[in-house]
Amino acid sequence: MKILVCGKGGCGKSVVAALIAKELANRGKRVLVVDTDESNFGIYRNFGVEQPKDFMEYLGGKDAVREVLIKSIQNGSGERVRMFKKITIDEIPEDYVVSKGNIKIMAIGKIHDFGEGCACPMGAVAREFLEALKLNEDEYVVVDTDAGIEHFGRGVEAGCDVIVAIVEPSYESIQLTNKIVELANKIGKRVVILANKVDDETAKLIKADAYLPFKREIYIACLEGKELPEVDEIGDVVDILVAN
Ligand SMILES: Nc1ncnc2c1ncn2[C@@H]1O[C@H](COP(=O)(O)OP(=O)(O)OP(=O)(O)O)[C@@H](O)[C@H]1O
Ligand SMILES: [Mg+2]
Repeated sequence: MKILVCGKGGCGKSVVAALIAKELANRGKRVLVVDTDESNFGIYRNFGVEQPKDFMEYLGGKDAVREVLIKSIQNGSGERVRMFKKITIDEIPEDYVVSKGNIKIMAIGKIHDFGEGCACPMGAVAREFLEALKLNEDEYVVVDTDAGIEHFGRGVEAGCDVIVAIVEPSYESIQLTNKIVELANKIGKRVVILANKVDDETAKLIKADAYLPFKREIYIACLEGKELPEVDEIGDVVDILVAN
């Protein structure tokens, strides 16, 4: 199953993606975390591991991928560029994966320099990779995304089975979640809404499938750039995800 985690900037996508991955691993599953956020460097820190190398480099680098994409536009075929045939977790080159127990973490690619160009090549690679990735029953993929809904525009969701929409207690976040549900419905993807950083009062104001309270130990671990602690409450959303 491929699970994509999305939501407004700062709502807790990376934290929740990491907690879901850890919980699945605790349940004996093999997990691949795919970081598709080109701007934030963070999710590997939530596992207390080193930063993985950009997977983009495996494909010759961002410029090479951009050229392939431009050529396909220029030749007017309008055909999608297929970057991968079928690929399995074990076939991902080791150099681009960092492991933590049953969890493997990889990053599609980051913006590193001033003026290096837009992130479209990363979006294309993320989409192609996720669609080509074949899993067996005990394998799960957790995709961490960039803030907002650009990844819908890029079609990254196409290769995923379920979308976890993170909503934090703010009007803007609730509005964005409504939009995510609308977009997911349009492409026929299941959505599970997780309200994050709630307390007893705010939880009552947000309609969600599962709730993760604001937890000081998460907040401090993030502040210190350390591995996330185990959090029992994440079990509820994982139960919902694996039940279907
Ligand atoms: N359940 C929680 N309890 C306490 N703090 C939390 C919780 N979830 C997230 N946070 C806080 O919110 C911050 C942002 O979380 P996170 O980096 O996961 O958000 P994000 O949605 O991935 O952000 P971005 O859009 O920048 O990628 C964390 O650094 C942490 O301080
Ligand atoms: Mg993030």
